[in-house]
Amino acid sequence: MNPIQVGLLGIGTVGGGTFAVLKRNQEEIKRRAGRGIEITRVAARNVERAKTLVGSAVEVVSDPFAVVNDPDIEIIVEVIGGTTLAKDLVMKAIANGKHVVTANKALLAEHGNEVFAAAHAKGVMVAFEGAVAVSIPIIKALREGLSGNRIEWVAGIINGTTNFILSEMRDKGLSFETALAQAQALGYAEADPTFDIEGFDAAHKATILAAIAFGVPVQFKRAHVEGITQLAAADIAYAYQLGYRIKLLGIAKRTHTGIELRVHPTLIPIKRLLANVEGSMNGIMVKSDAAGITMYYGAGAGSEQTASAVIADLVDVTRLHTADAAQRVPHLAFQPDAMSDTPILPMSHIVTSYYLRLRVADQTGVLAKVTGILAQADISIDAVLQRESDEISGVEASQTDLIILTHDCKESQMDAAIALMQALPTVLQTIVRIRKEELV
Ligand code: HSE
Repeated sequence: MNPIQVGLLGIGTVGGGTFAVLKRNQEEIKRRAGRGIEITRVAARNVERAKTLVGSAVEVVSDPFAVVNDPDIEIIVEVIGGTTLAKDLVMKAIANGKHVVTANKALLAEHGNEVFAAAHAKGVMVAFEGAVAVSIPIIKALREGLSGNRIEWVAGIINGTTNFILSEMRDKGLSFETALAQAQALGYAEADPTFDIEGFDAAHKATILAAIAFGVPVQFKRAHVEGITQLAAADIAYAYQLGYRIKLLGIAKRTHTGIELRVHPTLIPIKRLLANVEGSMNGIMVKSDAAGITMYYGAGAGSEQTASAVIADLVDVTRLHTADAAQRVPHLAFQPDAMSDTPILPMSHIVTSYYLRLRVADQTGVLAKVTGILAQADISIDAVLQRESDEISGVEASQTDLIILTHDCKESQMDAAIALMQALPTVLQTIVRIRKEELV
């Protein structure tokens, strides 16, 4: 049988890696797919540079629509990124009856419902393993490996750049800026690093994970997104003293009132495997009723690491493209007519535990006032740490840091308690609040 023809949109880091790995492993891939998989046409902004990468046997064009409209091509690989041109190209490819493989998390988190509906109507596949934690087959694990389970929560370190920054800050005492510059030099960061450090990249991925874990539409706009730019080195150090590491977590949790979908810095116990996912690596924990807790670990970025996911999708599509569309794995794991309308909860409704840091006047009765407010708000305290001012650099002798760990409570309860504590004249700075997850 002739190889299946693939059109590649974009031959930067991911496209280049995909081309190279597909070529290098073509025999193994063919044995798996049952048919050769060949990139026959490439769209690139820099045609001359692309030609030097792919050689003369592959046609390189500057117009990506020429690839999407090519009748000989059956699968389009979209790795140009973004949500404008990429969306037009993907929608056109679907309209032309082509299957699509994409690593574009922003596109799917923001426009996935429209993309999947169009694909379903046309009977084509849109595969996206490369959109989340590239080297880790987490889409397949959630969508197929755990399909016998009721999934309770997914919690993941799903942005390598921020994990690298947090690890370097803690390990080497680097400043945020130096660690970010290193992450960029190593190629982990997005073109616009704001996406990484402000949590949007992780929120795109968490949105996709929530959809396939619970069978709800993708709802990026309802995700709570908080990055690491406000995180102080002091909190990383205090957390460590209390037996925790701070990680930027993407969390999707099912509760009896709705789904929590949130990205924010989070204290997690050092004894959890996830706390030991360091550097640019990604790690994802899933709790489900039958399998219990499972964990997945691997590189979350990189040329060939992303290629690994893109090619796995190409193999899946090649195996299944002649199958009846109704027999294929649904895009979001659940059949389109069996999706749930369980709401994504506003942050005021989430339930979690907290780390609080209060810079207070070192006076009699301050601790009693603070703990009194928490008791009145029905918030139970788990641990308290008070540092003497001479142990904290940059703190005046008459001041001290009070660190409190709480048990679970509703975010709205904590908001109200923080407002009362903040109003105390002995509380001298804005109270730091970081959420904490025990992950059990
Ligand atoms: N910038 C992303 C990260 C890469 O740092 O994880 C892939 O999404």
